[in-house]
Order: sequence, then structure tokens, then C-alpha cells
Amino acid sequence: MTTPGPGQGAAPAETQEARRGAFSSRKVFILAAIGSAVGLGNIWRFPYVAYENGGGAFVIPYLVALLTAGLPFLFLDYALGHKHRGSAPLSLARESRKAEPLGWWQVGICFVIAVYYAVIIAYSLRYTFFSIDKAWGDDPEGYFFGDFLQANDPGVTLDVVPGVLVPLLLVWALVLVIMWLGVQKGIGATSVVFIPLLVLAFGALVVRSLFLPGAADGLDALFSPDWGALTDASVWAAAYGQIFFSLSIGFGIMITYASYVGRRTDMTGSGLVVGFANSGFELLAGIGVFAALGFMAQAGGVAVDEVVSNGIGLAFIAFPTIISEAAGGSLIGVLFFASLFIAGITSLISILEVVISAVRDRFDLGRTTAVLAVGIPATVVSVLLFSTTSGLTVLDIVDFFINRFGILLAAVVMMVVLAWGVRSLPSLAAHLNRHGSLKLGRVWMALVGVVAPLALGYVLLSEFLDTVETPYGGHPTWMLNVFGWGTAALVLVVGVVIAFTRRAPVTPAPVDDSEKEAGR
Ligand code: PFF
Repeated sequence: MTTPGPGQGAAPAETQEARRGAFSSRKVFILAAIGSAVGLGNIWRFPYVAYENGGGAFVIPYLVALLTAGLPFLFLDYALGHKHRGSAPLSLARESRKAEPLGWWQVGICFVIAVYYAVIIAYSLRYTFFSIDKAWGDDPEGYFFGDFLQANDPGVTLDVVPGVLVPLLLVWALVLVIMWLGVQKGIGATSVVFIPLLVLAFGALVVRSLFLPGAADGLDALFSPDWGALTDASVWAAAYGQIFFSLSIGFGIMITYASYVGRRTDMTGSGLVVGFANSGFELLAGIGVFAALGFMAQAGGVAVDEVVSNGIGLAFIAFPTIISEAAGGSLIGVLFFASLFIAGITSLISILEVVISAVRDRFDLGRTTAVLAVGIPATVVSVLLFSTTSGLTVLDIVDFFINRFGILLAAVVMMVVLAWGVRSLPSLAAHLNRHGSLKLGRVWMALVGVVAPLALGYVLLSEFLDTVETPYGGHPTWMLNVFGWGTAALVLVVGVVIAFTRRAPVTPAPVDDSEKEAGR
């Protein structure tokens, strides 16, 4: 065993855990994990992905992906964090020194996602207020790109747009205060308040949408099954991709959150709750969004497939149109954008905690210092790259590449390394089985070691070939190279470099006396 570092290893379990912070109960952890999982992916990505990939028939690949890859990988993340009680890099290093670079790679990915995700939350904040007086008039699209973003495409500028900058700074100030308040008083308390609020606001939105004229046509479009889609490999790829992003797995988030949970917690049971709550929310979002799109189609006298969109287009162009046309539109707008804002904030704090906890562990910093060390550069990068007139183009590119050649790639590598490189699965299963209600055995190991890596490996390969063949989104090649491939490569290189520089000995996770007695 290595020599304990300053303030680590040697300290009794309670002192060390108190210093790191912890969730006060299993319930708070579950709410925080749901808060992370339920994000923009659920609201603006899932409905579209389901619609495009077989509609009602998408349930089958979706459930298969959830059961064969999503939940098994979630348990893997939980096992690492819960067993080793550290940030993603520290937990992986405690599992095996060879796995540490994976953790830093994930930290890099999280930093990149955080800096652009905050901008979308800032847009949502601004649009919550725009909804009140329908500021976009009769041209939501022109308003979004022209008046609001002052978008200047193509090329990159440093012209900051004040209308984006101000809400962006507010978002950063809010999340950094939450981060500074710590695991329980910050992240935990925010989730306890925000998640019920989100369910209420979004639930009200769905109910209101269902009463709009044309809602049934929208639902029909979403749910009519196209069974032929099941033989299409790209549909299965879409299901696996959606599940990974939506459950927040492979980002290091769930490793980090699990490290703050009491030792005798039933982690597998908690994972099932989180997984099904997240999918339930996706279904709800599908219903709400398509009911509203059905109304939009009817009001415009066109078929539903002509109004379907996702992401930025759905939120900032289609929804404003719906808000302008529906009776009581302002209320729909406030509920929709406030939901995006809340869902976004609880995801953003989870991704920032990955970076903050890693920096704390590595440099032995207090929370305040670490929040400033991460928060100030993140705010500056976020402002310089994304609150400018070219911000949306850069955001679109970074988002596309980092999700594929960051998250998915890191997830596949992590499964392969842990299953075949360091052969950790039996001991990780044994760890979760000690207190878990769902026991993991050979089936779980086969899913994590074989099925999920093969399925995701396939998804990645086909995405890679597509991306090489068709330059994404018609953006200029140099921008794709710099912000797309460049960013994805940079986080990997930086991750490896950090893992191999100034390597201090890894201290073991603090041992809890009750566990020692239990003869671990
Ligand atoms: N599960 C999240 C979502 O569906 O939006 C994924 C996520 C994105 C988590 C960005 C955290 C984050 F900052």
C-alpha cells in the first residue's frame, strides 16, 4: 500500500467524508441523480429521436438499450464511485492506476459540455421572459437569429452580444453559488426543490398541450409504429445513443455522485429508480411536445411532419410559434422555458461537480478555491466562445462532436478497460451486491463486458463513417476540424497528460469501521 498523502488515507473515514461532502440521504442522492439525468436531452431530443426512428415501434429498441446498456453501465459508474469514494479520476485510479487517464478524459469532456450547456440555459432564461409579451412578434425565426443572437454566419468573431451575455453571467453566478454551497446544501438542496418544481411545471405544460386543438394528430404522428424500422441498424444505434446521453452515463457524473452516498445504501435499487424516472420523463416530454406540434400543424394547415424539429429549432422557433398562436400562449411559454431552465440547471451542476471534485482531489483544495479555479476559466471560455455573434455555430459543432467522439467513445473504452484490461467487474459486482437489492452476476458482466461495448462500438463506428462522409451541418471544414475533431482530440490528450504528470501516490479509499468488521 502507498503512503497516505496529506489529509488523506490516514484520516478516519468520518473526517475525510465530512471534508469531501455527502448527500444527507438516499432520497437526496436519487433526486440529484434524476436532476442530472433529466435535462435538455429528455425535453428536446427524445421526442424527435423517437419520432424519426419508428415512432411507437421505437419503444422496443429503446427498452432493449435501457436494459442491456443503460442500466448496466449506470451500475458500473455507481460501483466505481461508491466503492472508491473519489472523483472520477481518483475512483478510477483507485481501481487501477492504468484507468486514471479515462477519468481525466471524462473531466475534460465535462468542462467542454458545461461551457456550452450554460449558454442554452441562458437562452431559456431569456425566453421565459420573452414569452410573457411574445417579444418575437410574428417572426420567431428572424427574431431568434437576428434580434436575439445577432448571428453572423459563418466565421468566428469575438463580438459579444449583450442580450446573451447578461443571462449567461447570471446562470454562471447561480450555478457557482450552488457549487460553492457544497454537495448537500448546494447540489442536494437545489435538486430537492427543483425536481418537484420541474415535474409540476412540465406536468402542467403537458396537460395544457393535450387540450390544444390538433393535439391528437401530433400524438398520432409520434406513436404510429413503423415496425419496419426495427430492421434498420441506425434505429438501434439511435436508441443506444439516446439512452447514454439521457442517463448521464459515461461522463463521470454518476461516479462522482455515487461517491457522496452512504456506504450501506442500496445502489442498484436506486439506479432502477433513476433509470425509470428518467425514461418516464422522456415519455412525458414526447407527449407534451408532440401534442403542441400537432396544434402547430393544424394552425398552419400543414401535416405534422412539416413542423417537426428538435433541439434549438424546436425550443426557440417552433415553441414561440405555438405560444403566439395558442390561447393562453404566454403561460405555455413560461412553463416550457422555465422547465428547460430548471432541467438544465440541475444537469449543469452535476457536470460541473465532476470537474470540481477532480480538481479538489488532485490538488487537495478546499471547495471554495476549487469552485473559483474551475468557475472563473469556465465562465470566461463560455462568454468568449458562446455569447458572441458566432456562438451558436460553434455550439452546434462542439455539441455534435463531443457527444459522439467524447462521451460515447470514452464509455466504450471504459467498459473495455475495466472488463478486459483490469478485470474489475467481479469485484465491482461484489461491492454493489453487499447492500444492493438487485444482485449483479454473470448477466451484468456479460452486458457490460460484451453486449454494451459491441452495441456502442457499432454506433460509434457508423457515426464516425457518416461524419467523415458528410461534413456535419454544412459548416466550413476548418471550423469542423478546429471545434469538432480538435476539441474531441484535445480533451483526450489533455486528460492523458494530466494523468501522467506529477503523479502522487494514490491513497486508498477511507475504510469505514463497520465495513471492516463485516470482514471486507
Ligand atoms: N442527461 C442529460 C440530458 O439529458 O440533457 C445529459 C447532460 C447534458 C447532463 C449536459 C449534464 C449536462 F451538463
